[in-house]
Amino acid sequence: MDVRIITLRVNGESHALAVPVHKTLLEVLREDLHLTGTKHGCELGECGACTVLVDGEPVLSCLALPIELEGREILTIEGLMENGHPHPLQIAFAETGAVQCGYCTPGVVLSAKALLDRNPMPTRREIAEALSGNLCRCTGYIQILEAVERAAARMREMRSISDEG
Ligand code: FES
Ligand code: FES
Repeated sequence: MDVRIITLRVNGESHALAVPVHKTLLEVLREDLHLTGTKHGCELGECGACTVLVDGEPVLSCLALPIELEGREILTIEGLMENGHPHPLQIAFAETGAVQCGYCTPGVVLSAKALLDRNPMPTRREIAEALSGNLCRCTGYIQILEAVERAAARMREMRSISDEG
């Protein structure tokens, strides 16, 4: 088996790993780094359950190879808390009932974070487009859209308070 030693940056920390060249990022996150918040779904790039952010952009970790990601910043759901506080998206998802079984939630939240970081005031249509690769069996999507809108509003509010202060 062809194994490489690589250094992967995940949630702000560097990890030296011996990785078989064909092992996916999803497998390395879950099996080697024990970051099981990233969910294992279809493994075919169709469900979005395995979404993580690489340099701020959503990537399907079931299709990504760690050996191609050295030097990139990988963010998983475990790295989303800021200074020990839940991210506004996590709070809004809990408040609006956008989490049911929760299997899709880490991927949805990370796709939504990437959207809100580049577009603080998205329309409902823009949110739906940004989340179109993340399938959810449970919620019917309305609560998810509401949660992202609510988080966006709160993040704008927080930004304007910190700008004033
Ligand atoms: S597990 Fe990666 S898209 Fe479904
Ligand atoms: S909350 Fe169950 S799949 Fe989305």
